[in-house]
Amino acid sequence: MAEIVRQVHGGDIYSLARRLGCPEDQITDFSASVNPLGISPRALTAITGSLGRLNYYPDPQTKQLKEQLSAHHCIPPQCLLIGNGSTELIYLLPRVLRPKRVLIVSPTFSEYEKACQLIGARIHEVRLQAQDEFQVSADSIVSQYRKGIDMLFLCNPNNPTGQLLPQEEILWLVKQAARWSILVVADEAFMDYLPDQSLLSLPHKGAIDHPNLVVLRSFTKFFALSGLRAGYLVARPGLIKKLEARREPWSVNTLAQIAARESLLDEAYIKESLRFMEAERPKFISEFSSIPGIQIIHSQANFVLMQVTKQRLTAQDLYESLALQGLLLRSCESFKGLGPEYLRVAIKRREENKRLCQAMGRLLSPSA
Ligand SMILES: Cc1ncc(COP(=O)(O)O)c(C=O)c1O
Repeated sequence: MAEIVRQVHGGDIYSLARRLGCPEDQITDFSASVNPLGISPRALTAITGSLGRLNYYPDPQTKQLKEQLSAHHCIPPQCLLIGNGSTELIYLLPRVLRPKRVLIVSPTFSEYEKACQLIGARIHEVRLQAQDEFQVSADSIVSQYRKGIDMLFLCNPNNPTGQLLPQEEILWLVKQAARWSILVVADEAFMDYLPDQSLLSLPHKGAIDHPNLVVLRSFTKFFALSGLRAGYLVARPGLIKKLEARREPWSVNTLAQIAARESLLDEAYIKESLRFMEAERPKFISEFSSIPGIQIIHSQANFVLMQVTKQRLTAQDLYESLALQGLLLRSCESFKGLGPEYLRVAIKRREENKRLCQAMGRLLSPSA
């Protein structure tokens, strides 16, 4: 069996705080791409008022959250499975379905590969190219189908490149995959910022009309429930039943179920989060683009991939110097298919973005 890939993720404020000897809240975390507005006020009130319920088990059927999601996306509750973050579901799928050959686009979120390696699946890769700004090509994916592939993982928009594959191209990929009996797992962890592009926004819901499609969503990014852990999977009812029967009970805790449900009901917060990112993304891209020695990869997500092109300063030097100032970025060294010169940066609040931009500008200035 191939060596299991080593996982490195954003969000490790704990290690940096220990290194710097400071409290965790003094770290400004640009390494995890989480809504900078924080969690929904309605969710916060609901979980604070529910602390007295922690001596009960959580609902093992996650019934109320399923009903809320069912109303939110207009899909039957039988097509939904809730997980302890979408990561639980990413591991559950290969464990239950036992694919032999899995197609993965790279660079991408590393847990797909690890989950498939753990069950002994063979990984086939479609490598995105820097010269194409890492744009995913549906043709190059479909050209791999004939190699006996059983499952395709596709992250849209892709982490860490921020590129979006349009809805109609994904649907074409799914239709082609059906001819080869390939299950397409479309991970829409960052799609809440682009609601019209989701496969769940189609009048005929993608994952229900196409038996070979699974859509994954997360409450970690847009809804910022990172520390509570909640995600979900949309698929045809037969597949949901099969997955549900083979998983551990109570993996989604009471507060996560309540917070997720209430977040979906917080319309003002959802509107404000969308409005905020729409206004901040272009400012962020324009300001960081003006720093010499940094190349910005065009992004449609709430994070941006940057290439450090300055000769005398490596991305690692830059990462280290910023970390010493309490500014934590995501080094992309561990992403397959990305060189060490890349960094991923979450778009945060105006003041935080300005602070990072100024710090980077100083470190990369020609006179530094
Ligand atoms: C593309 C993608 N999918 C899924 C996840 C996992 O999300 P969750 O926190 O819901 O497990 C991440 C986390 O970084 C991610 O980047």
